[in-house]
Amino acid sequence: RQFQKAMMMYTCAIREVKTKLEVLNDDLSVRNSRNPIELIKSRVKKPMSIVEKLQRKGLEVSLENMINCLDDVAGIRVICSFVDDIYAVADMLVRQDDIRVIAVKDYIKNPKPNGYRSYHMIIEIPVFFSDSKRPMRVEVQIRTIAMDFWASLDHQLKYKKDLGESGEIEQDLRQCADIISQTDNKMLEIRQRIEARGITVRK
Ligand code: GTP
Ligand code: MG
Repeated sequence: RQFQKAMMMYTCAIREVKTKLEVLNDDLSVRNSRNPIELIKSRVKKPMSIVEKLQRKGLEVSLENMINCLDDVAGIRVICSFVDDIYAVADMLVRQDDIRVIAVKDYIKNPKPNGYRSYHMIIEIPVFFSDSKRPMRVEVQIRTIAMDFWASLDHQLKYKKDLGESGEIEQDLRQCADIISQTDNKMLEIRQRIEARGITVRK
């Protein structure tokens, strides 16, 4: 029951952050006539994965350790249209005065050796329950459609398979990630060129 209650609280934390993101997306789409956010996905970590991660960290499997030591029980993935949308959305989210930033990892400026790119944040948000107000941690991963495409296939290909670090397959995956990143940058540049022309009304 206590576990069930904790999971309910993480689900509520996700809902709060998701609403904030949806509000930002609505506001920005009216202002700029396009959506910075394509899609928002979310999940609460499965009990199996929670146990696995606590064990991997050498911790006793308990509710306390889950709450105090795991930052990604509640996870939100924000899929943006363009690379600059990622930073705009992240910025507007953390500027809100009820959100506390615990940690940031910019795997876009500093891609992982395998080519993985995304902007990761651990944030804390207060959630009001019937008898208390609790600060809840949520992991937010923000990436472009292109980065999400690579990460999803990377995950499928490597799931529970140990391919080693420097093999040919790893190298090819890295190469794909780099090509995808170049395309992302090119698409942004194209958008900026179109915007520089100003608004034209088609008859
Ligand atoms: P975890 O123990 O996996 O949570 O790593 P961490 O605490 O060092 O966090 P990090 O920010 O590096 O990564 C957390 C999450 O990012 C993972 O659970 C994945 O969802 C995603 N991620 C990180 N690296 C990769 C990768 O190489 N490929 C894919 N597909 N996803 C990744
Ligand atoms: Mg993590």
